[in-house]
Amino acid sequence: MRPTVLAPSLLAADLGRLAEQASAVVDAGATWLHVDVMDGHFVPNLTFGPAVVRAVREATRAYVDVHLMIASPERWVDAYADAGADGITVHAEATPHAHRALRAVRDRGLKAGLALNPLTPLSAIEAALDEIDLALVMSVDPGFGGQAYLARSDARLRTVRAWIDARGLDCRLQVDGGIDPVTGPRAAAAGADVLVAGTAVFGAPGGAAAGVARLLQALSTNTRPM
Ligand code: DX5
Ligand code: ZN
Repeated sequence: MRPTVLAPSLLAADLGRLAEQASAVVDAGATWLHVDVMDGHFVPNLTFGPAVVRAVREATRAYVDVHLMIASPERWVDAYADAGADGITVHAEATPHAHRALRAVRDRGLKAGLALNPLTPLSAIEAALDEIDLALVMSVDPGFGGQAYLARSDARLRTVRAWIDARGLDCRLQVDGGIDPVTGPRAAAAGADVLVAGTAVFGAPGGAAAGVARLLQALSTNTRPM
């Protein structure tokens, strides 16, 4: 398993200072930036489009991790690839054509991710393991930041981690929702190696850099040995 990555979610950032906030978390040690794209349809909230992804791309050299919470994501892969995403994750629940969407992401030379909501059977990830570079186990119902980590996520992460390791795959295991200095190490111990955190980073006392430092510290002291 590779070193654990922290991916601050810009959903919780001060958007009036987007570039500054992106730089602050990267300077503090985050190597990915997570961009939550919501369409007000697949999820009951509306956020960023490709123009914001482009602004993030131009503000940083970090890995730009685009989480598409939109219906029919296959229609939007090119737009987010053109905007400078490094990886694009689509939801299995959002399209009957997830395979086509994942193929489109890889055809653009980007990392392809498949996400599942908390009550979606994990079999969709199992079926897709050879076609993805990242499996995203949602630890909240998507749509909003600041929700509590669902305890059921531990077992789900363990199951997917076992599949990835048994097949020796080069596939990241990401967890998203309610990650903080307590739940982060718990999810990492269950097998997650990419942790998304919004509120715990940008809402941290002392600011975003302090939030990153606190999470990285918690992960370095509490994560299972590699
Ligand atoms: C939820 C989003 C998350 C969200 C996480 O729909 O996919 O990325 O920003 O926020 P926190 O860390 O506050 O739960
Ligand atoms: Zn997300």
